[in-house]
Amino acid sequence: MSAPSVSAALPLSARIAVVGAGAMGTGIAQVAAAAGHAVSLLDNRPDAAAHAVAAIRAQFARLADKGQLSADAAQAAASRLQAVTELAELADADLVIEAIVENLDAKQALYAALEALVGPDCLFATNTSSISVTAIAARLQRPERLAGLHFFNPAPLMALVEIVSGLATDPAVANTLFATAAAWGKTPVHAKSTPGFIVNRVARPYYAEALRLLQEGAADIATLDALLREAGGFRMGPFELMDLIGHDVNFAVTQSVWRAFYHDPRFTPSLIQQERVDAGFYGKKTGRGFYDYRDGAVRPLPHSEAAQPQPGTIVLYGSSPASQALAQRLGERGVAFAQAQASDARVADVDGATLFVSDGRSATQRAHDSGIANTVLLDLALDYRQASRLGVTVAEGCSDSAAQAAIGLLQAAGLAVSRLRDVPGLAVMRTVAMLANEAADAVNQSVCSATAVDAAMRLGVNYPLGPLAWAEQIGVGQVCAVLSHLAASYGEDRYRLSPLLQHHALTGKALS
Ligand SMILES: NC(=O)c1ccc[n+]([C@@H]2O[C@H](COP(=O)([O-])OP(=O)(O)OC[C@H]3O[C@@H](n4cnc5c(N)ncnc54)[C@H](O)[C@@H]3O)[C@@H](O)[C@H]2O)c1
Repeated sequence: MSAPSVSAALPLSARIAVVGAGAMGTGIAQVAAAAGHAVSLLDNRPDAAAHAVAAIRAQFARLADKGQLSADAAQAAASRLQAVTELAELADADLVIEAIVENLDAKQALYAALEALVGPDCLFATNTSSISVTAIAARLQRPERLAGLHFFNPAPLMALVEIVSGLATDPAVANTLFATAAAWGKTPVHAKSTPGFIVNRVARPYYAEALRLLQEGAADIATLDALLREAGGFRMGPFELMDLIGHDVNFAVTQSVWRAFYHDPRFTPSLIQQERVDAGFYGKKTGRGFYDYRDGAVRPLPHSEAAQPQPGTIVLYGSSPASQALAQRLGERGVAFAQAQASDARVADVDGATLFVSDGRSATQRAHDSGIANTVLLDLALDYRQASRLGVTVAEGCSDSAAQAAIGLLQAAGLAVSRLRDVPGLAVMRTVAMLANEAADAVNQSVCSATAVDAAMRLGVNYPLGPLAWAEQIGVGQVCAVLSHLAASYGEDRYRLSPLLQHHALTGKALS
């Protein structure tokens, strides 16, 4: 997407109307009032807007009590808010932000009614998560005045706002909303109106790969969650996160993105999640999801390998992040090792075992291809120096003593070791490769810029690194190898490589 030109934010004298006083509308009204605008809040449920205004005022008072806002500022922000009961009371609005029910007909009907009331320069913004902004604008006489202004929940706390342009959106409108969101203390990113916009599209593999790994018996949920947290650096593992979001909501988003992309296999929903929805096991809110939240339920622990003896001889190879981190961690613990160069990508040799970082092949496939029977593969870590746990897979023909030596090496370096079934790409590596692939495709298809996708995933879903910056850190060529090997293993279009990643692997040009 070409760089948008700079526009000024709406002035503080601009009157903001928020329609829909639910979770999102209330948060958005709070943000706009705190920024200095007069805000009118409307809901079609009797008293809902008045309750929301009271709740926001109480929130301003709490912020003042905590010293995060001066008493005067809290008072002034509170006085800028008003609840209204009739659409006609929004006639003088300069910007209407809609956060009503997620239904195309309802949103179109609201804007049709509004267009008859407001002035010609009034801007329309929709907070929709999943409906086409182009379709919402389609019935307007002036569709160019409408864009998506997609806040994340809770709106006062989450920095990201996706500014979504539909086919008819005037770039000047998108730019004004961009500048306005920035003036409100948010980090806006531009996106084109495509299914899932940026975050809800690019995040799909975080859930999808975990569900696939579970379906294939790679490991149990607690172990997979622990690997994504402790090695991957994600704030929450995929299963605990899906339980928090609610499987009803998470599954609906997956289905909506999948349908909107005409059943692209990249987004195929999981039967495992479908079953949770069918059972009413929606997650934390219903007491059961992947985990059991009922009174007395015991939280399962991740699986860690039993302690193995420290290997007799350790040779570390090359200068990969894994090899350097092992050297540092062993050195800090007073464990002796030698260092050497190898003609292949091996990280270490220990008592007969050869360790490599995953390139997307299973350990058994890699042992077959290389002739090294005692092959042990390491999963990806965000930072091998900081990780507290690492996943491994072991080739079918690897001896028990070699596997134990490999595990003993990682334990001697202070890592808990989770051994997965010998699935291609392990857990963190294939998840991050698929996130980077989706991010690259979003950029390749002009949905957003590389900077925007990385910022969106860090700020919208708290990823420790943007997926493209992460691909750079791993090596774009390595990510391409992982995806190509996954595609070869599964024979599925789901793992097809983004042309943008291929291009950057060939040219060596920076992605992010
Ligand atoms: N909840 C989230 O995490 C989240 C995040 C980003 C975007 N969104 C989007 O924001 C919008 C609102 O979501 P929410 O979670 O706040 O929903 P919600 O159910 O909490 O609130 C919606 C509110 O809109 C009111 N409403 C419905 N139809 C109306 C109409 N025609 N006129 C006036 N008021 C009407 C309802 O009474 C309700 O108070 C949806 O489009 C949703 O997809 C939600």
